[in-house]
This record gives sequence, structure tokens and C-alpha cells, in this order.
Amino acid sequence: MNDRPVIAVLVSGSGSNLQAIIDASERREIPGRIGLVLSNKADAYGLERARKHGIPTAVVDHKAFGSREAFDAKLVEVIRASGAVLVCLAGFMRVVTPVFLRAFPHRILNIHPALLPSFPGTHGPAQALRYGVRFSGCTVHFLDEGVDTGPIIVQAVVPVHEDDTEETLAARILKEEHRIYPMAIRLFLEGRLTVEGRKVSAKDAEKIPDFSRRNPDV
Ligand code: GRF
Repeated sequence: MNDRPVIAVLVSGSGSNLQAIIDASERREIPGRIGLVLSNKADAYGLERARKHGIPTAVVDHKAFGSREAFDAKLVEVIRASGAVLVCLAGFMRVVTPVFLRAFPHRILNIHPALLPSFPGTHGPAQALRYGVRFSGCTVHFLDEGVDTGPIIVQAVVPVHEDDTEETLAARILKEEHRIYPMAIRLFLEGRLTVEGRKVSAKDAEKIPDFSRRNPDV
């Protein structure tokens, strides 16, 4: 079991995406195992979720560092020590610097609760509601130097209902996040992704059950 490639997951909060990745790994739906859950917040519930599954955890408090670069250098050190070949940001609420990006080129994934390039940054569901779009969704992408601008791997779409609040829309989107994040990780770990500029090709992605870049039946 321990020769499965190691994933590091970075969280700042609830960690429901982390849970989806843990579950997919335990069900062998992705070929990797989580070898580290790292948080910048000691009270992140994601850490608790990791402990329940016997996954090693680490806390690196950004407030203890004099610069973003120094914080990122510590993250890199801790992640490297875990042997991770893939880094997944899952509700990690820090903007990272090139120190972090360059340590893991094309090996860092992020999930965002909107159909990028619409509504980057914080409060994706609230931004979508305010704008009045009929559909929103979520995006798994490679991290690059911008905020939510990296090459897109998988997206899923959800409708926006007349009576939606930020909470109801966010919950509908989150359900799709839990479906597509493990999917993107699987594509990555199976070596099926190639990136050329902004374009990501996913070899034989349609063979993955439930793979969807179209509007799902919701
Ligand atoms: C998700 O909506 C994710 O898209 C965003 O932060 C939220 C994290 O939720 N980046 P959780 O901690 O995985 O429950």
C-alpha cells in the first residue's frame, strides 16, 4: 500500500474536499494516498478529519513568518519531507508565491467554486448570485502565479435557482466539487494530463465513469 504515490493536501477550514479525496483514496478510485494534511490554522476541522483516518498532519502558522516567501519556504520543506508528488489545495486560504510554485511545477492543483475565468478570488457563489448568471459551478485547475488563473483540468456546472442564497448555491456547487476533485487527481496520477500553454489535454478522460465537462443532470 505504501508504494502508492503520495498526495499532500493543504486546508484552512472544514476540509470537505479533503474528505472526498480521502474517501476516493480509500475506495481505490484514485491511485494515490494522502501522506500529509497541512494547515495554516491549528483549529482547521480538516486536520481532525485527517487524524480520524490516521493521516499525518502538520500546522504551519503563516502568522509566525515575516514574509509570504518565508512561509512558503517552510511549506515546501514540510511537503518535500512527506515525499508528495502532488499537492492539492482544498480550501487553503493563502495566496502562494513563486517560492512555492517553483518547488512543484505543474504539480499543484486547486479547486475553485465558480466556472473560471468567471468569479475568481473569494466568495465565488456570492459573486455569481450578484452578477445574475443562470449557471455556475466549479473548476479544478493547475496553480499558476495568478489568483485562480491556471490551466483548467475539469469543470462541472450547476444551475442557479431564483430563490438561491449564497449558502444554497455554495452547497450545490460543493457537491460537484467533491465529484470532480478526485477525478482530476486520478487523471493527474495516472499520467493522463498534458499541459500546453493554457490547454490541458486529458487522455481518455471520457472513459472515467461520470466524467463531465458538460452540464450535468442537476
Ligand atoms: C470550497 O468551496 C473550495 O472550492 C474553496 O474553498 C472551499 C473549501 O471547502 N477553495 P472545504 O474546506 O473543502 O469544505
